[in-house]
Amino acid sequence: MNGIKKIGILTSGGDCAGLNAVIYAVLNAATLRGWTVYGIHDGTDGLTERPLSYEVLTLQNFSETPWPRIAGSYLGSLNKGVKLDSQSEMSARFGQGVKELGLDAVVVVGGDGSMNIVSGYCKSAGVKMIGIPKTIDNDTPLTQYSVGFDTACQVCMEALDSLETTARSHHRALILEVMGRDAGHLAIQAALAGFADVCLVPEIPYTLDGIIQKLESIKKSGRTHAVIVVSEGVKTESGESVSAAKNLVGESIHGGIGEWLSHALNAQYNGFQTRVTRLGHVQRSGTPTAFDRILASLFGAKAVELLANGHTNLMVGLSNGRLESYPLDDVVASGTKLLNSDSPYLKAAKDLGMYVGEF
Ligand code: F6P
Repeated sequence: MNGIKKIGILTSGGDCAGLNAVIYAVLNAATLRGWTVYGIHDGTDGLTERPLSYEVLTLQNFSETPWPRIAGSYLGSLNKGVKLDSQSEMSARFGQGVKELGLDAVVVVGGDGSMNIVSGYCKSAGVKMIGIPKTIDNDTPLTQYSVGFDTACQVCMEALDSLETTARSHHRALILEVMGRDAGHLAIQAALAGFADVCLVPEIPYTLDGIIQKLESIKKSGRTHAVIVVSEGVKTESGESVSAAKNLVGESIHGGIGEWLSHALNAQYNGFQTRVTRLGHVQRSGTPTAFDRILASLFGAKAVELLANGHTNLMVGLSNGRLESYPLDDVVASGTKLLNSDSPYLKAAKDLGMYVGEF
């Protein structure tokens, strides 16, 4: 007997497409085992604030709207940076909330930051936790994919397709700034899907000269337009951040490198007119792709199976096509997953002639 009768589920961090599909999967698998599922509102807030904020989820009430097909989070989410209380006080409030609701375990759907913060609460409060990775940044360690990344890639690809046609009409080099925080996974995979000519990622240094040479070679080939992807975490050529904005815990809020790049290119090169599109939070929405829905189903079913088999303090993940689980301590110790210079995506892009920086 694993003793599980009631579990909580919460979504934490920046939202993305596929969260509702995860909730649906966990709810289904848990209901089939006769468990009750408490949906916790607004990330950890639902358990740390008073009064507690939650609802009992049933397949019937969750199915009244086709939630699994829709982006966003039915439960609401909380991005880090809004909590100033101490870790021990938060853990105590979290643990007390779990106790008041009589939860036997909590499923946390979050990125690397949430795995870190919430697993800390759970550890100090003695709460059983299973993590499910989600983020458009795909920077959660150990797992190859996180829920929401594929849909964000699709949104970026569609934006590049749209930009290409107007770039073609106006003979311009159009710059698309995408999200991803300090990781270039979204930028490089979107750039490959959208056949970009240049892609700058935070992990790889670049030169304006390198970009200009690429644009020149496009001109020489007879093509009169180009498409450039730049990840929001990229710094200026000399390594400065373009944004001074910080969130409440002192982390950089990225954004603006596209505009900087446009001005810097124009100052040195007049081969193409440039314009900038900053895609912003639309990358966190869109119809969840088949891949994200399937990943959500695999992860949700696995999370419930792990709890049913008496396992805890693990994060589910996908590695080399296999569903795996990793100790949360290892996930936390691994830190943010960044692009390596031996990434197959970077290599393929370079082999195909895309300018991806100097490596
Ligand atoms: O982590 C997801 C993400 O969308 C990042 O790509 C981006 O930098 C950040 O969140 C934006 O956060 P916020 O929603 O607080 O603006």
